[in-house]
Amino acid sequence: MSTRSELSRQLGVVAGFDDPDAALEQYPTPPDLAASIVHVADLRGDIEGKTVVDLGTGTGMLALAAALRGPDRVVGVDLDRSALLTARENERRVAASADVGWVQGDATDPPLSVEGVTVVMNPPFGAQRGNEHADRAFLETAADVAAVSYSVHNAGSREFVESFAADAGGEVTEAFEAELAIDRQFDHHDADRETIAAEVFRIDWT
Ligand SMILES: C[S@@+](CC[C@H](N)C(=O)[O-])C[C@H]1O[C@@H](n2cnc3c(N)ncnc32)[C@H](O)[C@@H]1O
Repeated sequence: MSTRSELSRQLGVVAGFDDPDAALEQYPTPPDLAASIVHVADLRGDIEGKTVVDLGTGTGMLALAAALRGPDRVVGVDLDRSALLTARENERRVAASADVGWVQGDATDPPLSVEGVTVVMNPPFGAQRGNEHADRAFLETAADVAAVSYSVHNAGSREFVESFAADAGGEVTEAFEAELAIDRQFDHHDADRETIAAEVFRIDWT
């Protein structure tokens, strides 16, 4: 297994969104955070030999992090076709040997018939649009298709995520704090680089 920092370095070639859409909350997960999430998942036995599904994959950062750790296959789902074209380019740059598929569709009603998979996701939070817990619909999909999921949420979501998981028959088994350093790309960003406090949760749905 590569180290967490080697994985982060490999992900440095992953390009972000050409023309990010604020309504879809299109900002990329930084390589170091993607590497941390997938490294933890791999240590837990949730990546190697598994089917990994990245809900709202964007340009493929989390999917490709998983692809570099020996999964059976990886599927990235996003609404945005142009982001998926970039993800395909990123797949070539990263040169992972895993079987990777890119599917255009709604991650809250995914055009996939899978179950028992590992879900990774950094879904829209909804906070900027007064649409708190836009991530709920993504968690609903995880509850439907995943044995285990890893998801990024804005800081302060722990109570919501734990109670959602418990209601849907899951359990939060691990949580860690993270920072999302986002380059200025939307009008509501005041600074050139903004740091968003976030939390990552592992949920066991079995
Ligand atoms: C915060 S970005 C994360 C992108 C990528 N997963 C990453 O980690 O870099 C959220 C992504 O969710 C996608 N998205 C938003 N709503 C969606 C939906 N209903 N179905 C599929 N993708 C969606 C956006 O297009 C965007 O790529």
